[in-house]
Amino acid sequence: MSEDKKVIFSGIQPSGNLTIGNYFGAIKNWVKLQDKYDCYYCVVDLHAITVRQEPKDIRRRTLEVLATYIASGVDPEKNTLFIQSHVSAHAEAGWLLNCNTYIGELNRMTQFKDKSQRYGESVSAGLLTYPVLMAADILLYNADLVPVGNDQKQHLELTRDIANRFNNTYSPTFKIPDPYIPKEGARIMDLQNPSKKMSKSSDNPNSYILIMDTPDIIRKKINRAVTDSLGVVKYSDDQPGVKNLMNILSVATGRNVNDIEKEYEKLGYAEFKKDVAEAIIREIEPVQNKVKDLLNNKEYLESIYKNGAEKANYVARKMLSKMQRKIGFVASR
Ligand code: TYM
Repeated sequence: MSEDKKVIFSGIQPSGNLTIGNYFGAIKNWVKLQDKYDCYYCVVDLHAITVRQEPKDIRRRTLEVLATYIASGVDPEKNTLFIQSHVSAHAEAGWLLNCNTYIGELNRMTQFKDKSQRYGESVSAGLLTYPVLMAADILLYNADLVPVGNDQKQHLELTRDIANRFNNTYSPTFKIPDPYIPKEGARIMDLQNPSKKMSKSSDNPNSYILIMDTPDIIRKKINRAVTDSLGVVKYSDDQPGVKNLMNILSVATGRNVNDIEKEYEKLGYAEFKKDVAEAIIREIEPVQNKVKDLLNNKEYLESIYKNGAEKANYVARKMLSKMQRKIGFVASR
């Protein structure tokens, strides 16, 4: 790790099985960044418990998410990979930043508004303050860039506001991070309702494709994906289902949507969907095989997350002490 490399931080919640939205919107881009930047990639288990999780499921999924990072090409030798709860500074810094965040700001977060509608009165306080924990994740490492999908943009803006406020109140402490949102794949939509983003927490399994779905299931889900009655493969907002499938084909193959439009000019949706499914399978089958291998080697995974936590702890503790000092806490040592 060289001192002058810019720092990157990002993470994924182990709150459900990962979808191709997580893959194309986040992980695939992380791989492209690993040589140029000093990257911290975290499995954010503290975030996942903002909604109820079965203990055995979150335990299993935490390792699965870590295995998926590595299987997708995020090299543990080049990046710091760790589990959020192993670095207690995240929760502590989260508290300090909570006291520098306004309820009004949190109430405006669209993700909170959506989710709280779903859970009604029993929505946890954690779900409201979740973006503050995300700010703590990022600011503890003085990250320059945060590679995420489009849905996290608002949380990043809040992170910047919180950082600026802390800097203005207590003197410059944090770098102001920028979002790093890919041109393609930033918003993979729900296959059944293409006006919504594809989400691992959806109730309808036909609306998403999981990274670990079998080839047959992928073919079935793409086949059932909602399109329209126009029958032309065209990249248009009037055809959101087709547009989404074109985006998926584009990120899976690296081809641009104009070429795709030309190729399918005279072909129907059946042919097009078949190719979309095969392109996804070609991209993720090798990842699936590696995930399975890695999950059979728990010792290896353990060595990665322990080593990662050690490195992350060192950096995060230093920043946490700085924050505490600026706030006026008496030093403990
Ligand atoms: P999460 O776990 O919901 O999603 C992880 C990443 O996947 C991206 N993503 C998508 N991209 C394109 N299309 C989609 N349909 C799609 N669905 C998800 C997300 O944008 C994200 O990049 N709050 C974060 C996790 C987090 C975090 C952080 C991220 C916690 N601390 C610090 C960055 C930095 C979240 O819930 O992501």
